[in-house]
Amino acid sequence: MSLPSTVTRAIDTALDKVVPAGYSSIGPTLRRHWWPADPPEHSLVGKHVVVTGASRGLGLAAATDLARLGAVVHLLGRDQARLDEAAAGLRLAVPNADVRPETCDVSDLDAVRAYATRTLEQVPELHALIHNAGVMPPARSESAQGTELTLATHVVGPLLLTELLRPALRAADDARVLIMSSGGMYSAPLDSALADDLQYREGTYRGIRAYARTKRLQVLLGEQLAARLADDGVAVHSMHPGWASTEGIAESMPGFARAIRPILRDAHSGADTLVWLTAAPEAATTSGLFWSDRRPRSTSYLPWTSEDPVLRRRVWDAIAALAGIEHAPA
Ligand SMILES: NC(=O)c1ccc[n+]([C@@H]2O[C@H](COP(=O)([O-])OP(=O)(O)OC[C@H]3O[C@@H](n4cnc5c(N)ncnc54)[C@H](OP(=O)(O)O)[C@@H]3O)[C@@H](O)[C@H]2O)c1
Repeated sequence: MSLPSTVTRAIDTALDKVVPAGYSSIGPTLRRHWWPADPPEHSLVGKHVVVTGASRGLGLAAATDLARLGAVVHLLGRDQARLDEAAAGLRLAVPNADVRPETCDVSDLDAVRAYATRTLEQVPELHALIHNAGVMPPARSESAQGTELTLATHVVGPLLLTELLRPALRAADDARVLIMSSGGMYSAPLDSALADDLQYREGTYRGIRAYARTKRLQVLLGEQLAARLADDGVAVHSMHPGWASTEGIAESMPGFARAIRPILRDAHSGADTLVWLTAAPEAATTSGLFWSDRRPRSTSYLPWTSEDPVLRRRVWDAIAALAGIEHAPA
């Protein structure tokens, strides 16, 4: 299809506003006619990529497609048997893939420290760190350090892991840190209610609310890390995958997943932008953006909405304190 870029941009943006169209399989089916080119074949040969939450779902799909591009893929999850099974399936799909299943519960800061120490010994140059692990617990629970679980898994653990793996990221050319957020974050503004109760101690706990709030915080995490890692030459982006068919969505939102089953993306399509951001040279020329379907998107449905910088600072300092790192300049 050859349409002027002003027309394709307008269609693309309209798809985003009509959520079921842009988020479902309809989005990439149309957008692939004008989105940027696929990463070059073999573009990741010999490059190390760490993917958290890679025992199934979008993480495993991304890991498989990254292995197809030649990457050495480190699959992270909480359970070695599930990871071994995932790695075996990946090797069947991509013969000769270099896949390394490695246990790390990213919500547990001790596990993150131990994993980072091992990785720095074995991987001097890390091309990409992909924070994909996600949870939507039905009831409030806490990590090993007593942090609410979605906050620990989506935000605090990823911040510490990034900080500890910085030397390996800095040593690589064109390194990237990528964060798999969710379109659900649009429903959770970064406001004083969130800032005052980051740990979700007030009111009745709803997993979907905790999920949306911490997915919003992942966007803040991406922006703050982009500033923090700029001098290291490391690009940082967050993104959302649309709605993709995975065990995770079927388990945590069964009614929703059943209702939209005919238009769900498959996992590879959900992971497409993650793979593109990891491998495409142009993805390292910007930093701190929020993407879907290979295009930066607004972080709010009302693009003129701006977040209070004082509130952002307060939230970021609180997150950094939970991760046990010095706070970063914004
Ligand atoms: N599917 C969608 O439509 C959709 C939409 C928006 C956003 N997302 C986001 O995309 C990401 C992947 O979603 P999915 O649908 O593929 O989910 P999924 O099928 O539930 O997979 C989640 C993965 O995360 C791992 N995991 C969970 N907690 C972990 C922890 N503490 N440490 C390490 N690994 C952990 C799980 O492995 P173990 O249980 O083996 O540890 C699993 O491999 C999530 O961040 C999710 O929020 C998905």
